[in-house]
Amino acid sequence: MKRIGILTAGGDTPALNATIFGAVERANALGVEVVGIQRGYAGLLDPRVPHAILNPLYTTIPELDPCRGGTLIGSSRTYVDRKTHEQLEIAKKNLKALNIDGLICIGGDGTINGMQPIVEFLPCVLAPKTIDNDLGLNYIDEPSEWNSPQEGNSSRWMEQRMRGSDQVRLEDIINYATPGYATAVFVVAQCLERIRTTAESHRRIAIVEVMGRLSGYIALGSAYGQPDLILIPEVPINLELLEAQLRHIYELQHHAVIVVGEGLREADGTPLGSRRASTDPAGNIMLEGAAASLKDLLARRLGSDLFEQPRSFESPDSALFTRKIGHTQRGGRPILFDRFYAAQLGGKAVELLAAGESNSIATLQYEPKHGFSLSSVSANKLRDRWGEIHPREVHPSMYDVERMRPSSLGMDYLKPIFTNAIGWDDMEFIRSGIFSPGNLTSRYQSVTTDLQKRIRFL
Ligand code: F6P
Repeated sequence: MKRIGILTAGGDTPALNATIFGAVERANALGVEVVGIQRGYAGLLDPRVPHAILNPLYTTIPELDPCRGGTLIGSSRTYVDRKTHEQLEIAKKNLKALNIDGLICIGGDGTINGMQPIVEFLPCVLAPKTIDNDLGLNYIDEPSEWNSPQEGNSSRWMEQRMRGSDQVRLEDIINYATPGYATAVFVVAQCLERIRTTAESHRRIAIVEVMGRLSGYIALGSAYGQPDLILIPEVPINLELLEAQLRHIYELQHHAVIVVGEGLREADGTPLGSRRASTDPAGNIMLEGAAASLKDLLARRLGSDLFEQPRSFESPDSALFTRKIGHTQRGGRPILFDRFYAAQLGGKAVELLAAGESNSIATLQYEPKHGFSLSSVSANKLRDRWGEIHPREVHPSMYDVERMRPSSLGMDYLKPIFTNAIGWDDMEFIRSGIFSPGNLTSRYQSVTTDLQKRIRFL
């Protein structure tokens, strides 16, 4: 292997540059040239294929900073459509012209699907990323538990769990945590800490919506910000129980903080917010408004009595408020856990290609006695009988439905990721970076603009 390509596809995450950095450093050691393809799969379909050599003379370019959020080679949600013969031919022709021996795609489930048609003519490996932490399996045989919507009487894919709570072990999880997840949870926990004191001061109920699509891992991890209740998309909402819990908490402390995963569902399984048909070629749905819908439901149920005494002279309507943390979960500097393992996974992807692997995924495994290690899995292992890849959901054993919080296993799951997730330099970055006087005089230095001087075209 003399020359490989690398691209970042799908929504950005904080640790993409760290993954690219790890891959480039490993390639330097192996004497392999790395071509960074601009704008993900869109770059491959561009007749001029904008690209940059990321390690001229096997030296990593200085623009590639593993501590920096975003991706210096850009991303897009464009995928090579295997059904469109013409697209496939363009990608094939361009990859050949680039003269590369293998391709590393950094992304999530949509990126694997985008990689599939390319795998048929070029070795490809996926380095995982997603803040949603939904790329992986709770155990290797999990895909066989999915029933097609046509077979069941629901319009939703249904997972028939074969393994009970006592049979789920942390060491069985395939791809324990994806780069980007830890930083997203860090942002959420900080946000909750700030929302808390304002809810507390004004005796309000805050409903905070977090990302994650149909998967509740970010919501689960939000427990570090000590919300009173956490609602995850995997468990349809039980309004009676929620109302009872909330009344109890409000009577006790005169304020409350609730976290909702954006894919939260009603008792009958329908989404609480709206689901827009996707503009994302990967087919991912767009979720919106779970927190706002929950606010309306709760306002109707709670009435004004609850707020009369603690909020006299203030409108009961304003007692409940919603906040969406939004894209700040995806942006900015990755914390140490993400940087470190993203770089390792990037390096592992290069090793897999060098070892002649194709259509496989570099994974991060955990074993309670030995900690984290790197491994790999065939992309096909993630597919169900119909060839679908489903987002990894929070397993029921990780969530306590009654207390609406992580269960004991859920907490055991979180601790290895987060206990030492922040480095001293992350804190120093905040201390010295934010209020640096230079920020007042110098404009933002865009790394994608800096890279322009290295961009080549076919
Ligand atoms: O998959 C990552 C993610 O951030 C989801 O959590 C969220 O629903 C979605 O992307 C948002 O997508 P966009 O950036 O296109 O609005």
